[in-house]
Amino acid sequence: MTADPRKPRHVAIIMDGNGRWAQLRARPRLFGHHAGAKRVKEIVRACPDLGVKYLTVFAFSTENWKRTQTEVAGLMKLFKRYIRREAQSLHEENVRVRFIGDRVRLEPALVDLMDGLELMTAENSGTNLTIALNYGGRDEVTRAARRLAHDVKLGNLDPREICDETFPRYLDTYVLPDPDLVIRTSGEARISNFLLWQSAYAEYEFIDTLWPDFSADVFADVLARYGLRDRRFGAVPV
Ligand code: FPP
Repeated sequence: MTADPRKPRHVAIIMDGNGRWAQLRARPRLFGHHAGAKRVKEIVRACPDLGVKYLTVFAFSTENWKRTQTEVAGLMKLFKRYIRREAQSLHEENVRVRFIGDRVRLEPALVDLMDGLELMTAENSGTNLTIALNYGGRDEVTRAARRLAHDVKLGNLDPREICDETFPRYLDTYVLPDPDLVIRTSGEARISNFLLWQSAYAEYEFIDTLWPDFSADVFADVLARYGLRDRRFGAVPV
């Protein structure tokens, strides 16, 4: 079966606006993050009907450590709770979960839960959910370059073989297709170090909706607009 070109196979989302959503309700920022976590589930569930096979969400960036200690600790606790609570239902819904980003700085208890969820869902064949945690595009590319240099040093890779097909094998996303569509919520029009290499030919949607208000209906509307786009990948239409 050929994939429908009007439907993006891989959608990546910068889930922005949790803090402002909470602020509008005079609540602490973490209240917004908890509301945002609930939306992740709804959006994952909407994927099969919308023809989205790969969903990648930006949960915590390499720059987010600069937030207050209270917010960082609250987010780490939220990630652990999310994995504990949602693991079984994600598995039952045939979702395959992966994490990208540098795990070295994450606490061992969180890394164990991440490893466990990846292992538990490794054979699943439904939606591929990738959660970017302590992820930064530049960090990913430099870590990849380090691994590649190591392979060259060991004699496993001839420098003449380095090209835009071999290099991505060293990225965290090596098993994933490039995103077709990157969505950022909350009205900010920037990419904030997300999937820098992989998004070279992605379409972008910057929408005003704050992430905790991003429902399955809003998602469907964004995808419908994507279906009207003319993707050329640098070529001229014939
Ligand atoms: C950006 O909004 C959001 C984050 C840094 C955290 C994203 C986390 C979640 C949506 C919840 C958990 C996710 C999973 C996968 C369990 P912001 O805080 O920068 O909002 P603001 O720009 O309005 O301040």
